[in-house]
Amino acid sequence: EDWRERGAAVGARQEVDSNGQVQTRNVKKGVKDFNFGRTLGEGSYSTVLAATDRQNQKEYAIKVLDKRHIIKEKKVKYVNIERDTLNRLTEHPGIVRLYYTFQDERSLYFVLDLASSGELLGVLKKLGSFDIECTQFYGAQILDSVAYMHSRGIIHRDLKPENVLLDRNMHTKITDFGTAKILPDPAASGSGLDVVPGSPIDGADNDRANSFVGTAEYVSPELLNRSNACKASDLWAFGCIIYQLLAGRPPFKAANEYLTFQKILSLKYSFPDGFPPAARDLVERLLVLEPANRLPIEHIKNHEFFDGVQWGRGLWRHNPPRLK
Ligand code: ADE
Repeated sequence: EDWRERGAAVGARQEVDSNGQVQTRNVKKGVKDFNFGRTLGEGSYSTVLAATDRQNQKEYAIKVLDKRHIIKEKKVKYVNIERDTLNRLTEHPGIVRLYYTFQDERSLYFVLDLASSGELLGVLKKLGSFDIECTQFYGAQILDSVAYMHSRGIIHRDLKPENVLLDRNMHTKITDFGTAKILPDPAASGSGLDVVPGSPIDGADNDRANSFVGTAEYVSPELLNRSNACKASDLWAFGCIIYQLLAGRPPFKAANEYLTFQKILSLKYSFPDGFPPAARDLVERLLVLEPANRLPIEHIKNHEFFDGVQWGRGLWRHNPPRLK
């Protein structure tokens, strides 16, 4: 029922009828309001399709989730997390925006920003690796987006180049908040801490405290050791991404997940020859086992590697450097 309410609020429109009475008409968007096009991506529980709003030709990406499958696989909670986090993250150009949600008998629908240039991973694979200038540009946009979501009390927990999409202008848009964590409201709890000791939320989501969330190569040591993600867990992943953009491969990679986890826990990785020294220094300050000792976002922004970057809205007005 929550689904219907939300969509209705978005589309409610007031009109004066023939008797001069003000009528509130629900013009909630539904499946019939869109023309569906090509498939953009397929996940285990969803398919993302390109679509256009029939009224104004505006283009979107619509994520279609099969209700029966979600219920059967016990993923209802994650679908709700994705909707709730995206509804909190509506004011930043670097995060895929959720415009409407609706459903029909069979499916749930998320109407999202279209990121027509695909995944950052795809671009990286095509080119092999990025130069310093491109890594600085894409890294800065990702970091600015992470700073925003953290300021809104959201930890992503699965940052990786597959979850960084690119729009038609090659600006980044972070997606896939299905495994995100919503922190208690700092204003409500009277504390700016990530985790409030003793509160019911302490220790994160109890029902999955012992299950691995995320992707092996980017998972932080604290998640492996204590099943506890914090804001700094996203910065570990950010360090992995900066490394990967320049090196062409993630820092911790092995034949299977178990061996990858062992490398992460023993901080076993090395830099390829020719890795830029400023980037190396930054990565070394992010890939730190103790989360409290990782460079905080404000210090990352001032790090030598990001020299010359105009932080804030200016970042999103610039054209990206040409990819080589
Ligand atoms: N694949 C998954 N989500 C997408 C989006 N919002 N835009 C384009 N492709 C996608």
